[in-house]
Amino acid sequence: MPSDRSGAELARLVRAHDRWRGRGVFNLLASENAISPAARRFLSSDLAGRYTLPHAPRPGEPGTDNDYGGTRFTDQIERMANDAAARLFHGRFATTRPLSGHLAAMSALVPLLPRGGRLLAIPPEDGGYDGYAPGYLPAMFGWEGRPLPAKGPGASLTAEAAAEEIRRERPSIVLLGQSRFLFPYPLKEIAEAAHAQDALVLYDASHVLGLLAGGEFQDPLREGADVVYGSTHKSLPGPQGGLLVTDREDLFQQIDPALTWRVFDNAHWNRIAALGQTLLEMERHGPEYARTVVANSQALATELDRRGLPIVAKELGFSRSHQVHVDPDRLLSDHGLRPSELSYRWERQRLLTDRIGRIGTAEVTRLGLKPSDMPRMAEFLDRAGPKRERVGAEVLAWRRSYRSLAFT
Ligand SMILES: Cc1ncc(COP(=O)(O)O)c(C=O)c1O
Repeated sequence: MPSDRSGAELARLVRAHDRWRGRGVFNLLASENAISPAARRFLSSDLAGRYTLPHAPRPGEPGTDNDYGGTRFTDQIERMANDAAARLFHGRFATTRPLSGHLAAMSALVPLLPRGGRLLAIPPEDGGYDGYAPGYLPAMFGWEGRPLPAKGPGASLTAEAAAEEIRRERPSIVLLGQSRFLFPYPLKEIAEAAHAQDALVLYDASHVLGLLAGGEFQDPLREGADVVYGSTHKSLPGPQGGLLVTDREDLFQQIDPALTWRVFDNAHWNRIAALGQTLLEMERHGPEYARTVVANSQALATELDRRGLPIVAKELGFSRSHQVHVDPDRLLSDHGLRPSELSYRWERQRLLTDRIGRIGTAEVTRLGLKPSDMPRMAEFLDRAGPKRERVGAEVLAWRRSYRSLAFT
């Protein structure tokens, strides 16, 4: 096919995607969010194609403090983003260079955990991130991956069970954080148990970073975690990427110099500018945004439960995060459905979720939906799901009434 026709086809596909995802559906994927218009503009700025490599001036070579020319603004942009991250997550040292949450994890773990070191992390079957399971990062870097079970309601962690496991396993690093993440941890007690054994506590906030930014969920560094890091695009409504913050200079001095040339080379400065903008917006609007996200989760779960859709952790109030979890066992016994079938039914009616039973409220909160809108959302989920009604046109009419983003 001639390249001009391929180009037209590519443009058509991108426009179709943008129309569908930007205006044609309610996005209830817990791992995604909507980027503010200002941050989106920065993503397509000239920074998208530039390099910078600042370093200490070399003796005898006056003026050579960057290996690339033309960088007079990039380094200031990065500094502003790092400073905003440090302020928001309450640590003195921050980097916005990691290109993703996974690479932020690698950036912290590789310098802090020697080959053969023991890593205690919540296993995927309890909602932990797959990357920490023995076959992935531990296999790649020669660590011993051990499970920290999270068996409370909604895969929550109790202080006593975690402390006992830490004493028994004697890990070098206790890694907290989950992909299926409903409730904050008793972090003070867990950190005390870990520090008593000379273990570090790393907190993967990939899912809850936007809640932390708004003062909801928990405050990991102040509650005892040594390093907090995560993705910048799930509950935090930033561009896809990662960041890392710590209050410990000794740890930052091990992590920061090891980033460039070990984990990546260039750090995508358009992304860092867009992330900086997101963090500044969160400093202004974060508390109201995060409060509304959590209130929406609780209101949506309550309404779904009232309609007979099985939701986990009712005894704990369903959720303190941007996620609500469908109970797969009761879904099968009460409705004869698996989470994936439910998700496909919803998608056909313009309601997007993942296929593993998580419903996320972050992006619809950005659109401006409030707890008073959740009965209507629950009604559509119920009718499109178990009742298998065709509600797509009604959903689209409702979606069209939200034209801009809140909290920007
Ligand atoms: C807890 C957790 N950590 C890390 C990651 C990886 O994040 P990213 O996709 O930004 O690399 C994920 C992704 O879903 C996650 O859930």
